[in-house]
Amino acid sequence: MTPRVFVTRRLPGAALTRLAEHADVGVFEEDRPPGQALLLERASRADGLLCLGTDRIDATVLDACPRLRVVANYGVGYDNLDLEALSARGIPASNTPGVLSDATADLTWALILAVARRVVEAHDAVLAGQWSSWKPAWLLGRELAGGVLGIVGLGRIGRAVARRAHGFAMHVIACSASSNPARGAEEVEGAGLVEWVSLDELLGRADVVSLHVPLTPETRHLIGRRELAAMRRSAILINTARGEVVDQAALFDALAAQDIAAAGLDVTDPEPLSPGEAIVALPNCLVLPHIGSATVRAREAMAEVAVDNLIAGLQGERLPCLLNPQAYRA
Ligand code: DGY
Repeated sequence: MTPRVFVTRRLPGAALTRLAEHADVGVFEEDRPPGQALLLERASRADGLLCLGTDRIDATVLDACPRLRVVANYGVGYDNLDLEALSARGIPASNTPGVLSDATADLTWALILAVARRVVEAHDAVLAGQWSSWKPAWLLGRELAGGVLGIVGLGRIGRAVARRAHGFAMHVIACSASSNPARGAEEVEGAGLVEWVSLDELLGRADVVSLHVPLTPETRHLIGRRELAAMRRSAILINTARGEVVDQAALFDALAAQDIAAAGLDVTDPEPLSPGEAIVALPNCLVLPHIGSATVRAREAMAEVAVDNLIAGLQGERLPCLLNPQAYRA
């Protein structure tokens, strides 16, 4: 019998056409998350599920989907998946690592440069008719060359960000989310020379702090009041990871009081963030709508990887991007 698959959103590229050669594919056609009730209804008869970070896949959903044999997440972050609940039911799950690292690193640098050089403020000034002449002290920003970039989480995306830092003549220091003793400078594959430091040392030294850790119970509010207070007053905070890694109320206070200079956020807590939220109105905070992987190449490749994993799961093969090997032991 042809397996049934439910896909929670239309995806760019041709991957879903390929999936249709292997399964009876149902797609939620609207440009919004289906929400739990619709998800339960549409996925209840599915053998495979292709979902997004905005779909929470937990025990309630899984209990309503007794036929489910594989879950493929469209994205590298998988904090929306309850891996324990999946594993307990013997359901393997996958993500899409690698194919979006360059896109997300580019966007990280777009934020660093935009914030450091006040690009959006400058564009808004042109729109507002404030460009009256060339003024020596107008819209002055910060130079990056010779500065220190602090990368929290040197995984695939963190390394891609570090690689670009050398082109901007920045010194790269890094730490992981877990306790990480200073261990000097070393060549990191794909990242060049990186100096490993503790989180506290990184916060105290970096001109730009860029976050690249996954969201886990340990990294939730990794950057809170204490950490923001430890940053330099001239420093910039960039978050292209997950909004909840930062305590946003504490960040608002730090930005409003100019305890740190500015922030560039591609991710917020919650998402979407209403335009009425106070943090959006701060002149020293630039907010983007979670577009880190939003390039044609990355989004199409993510669809291909998710479909590869889904097909493998439907065919009883081990998923190429398996997140929960425990599923096979259940
Ligand atoms: C990812 O791949 O995790 C992106 O943030 C999209 O969810």
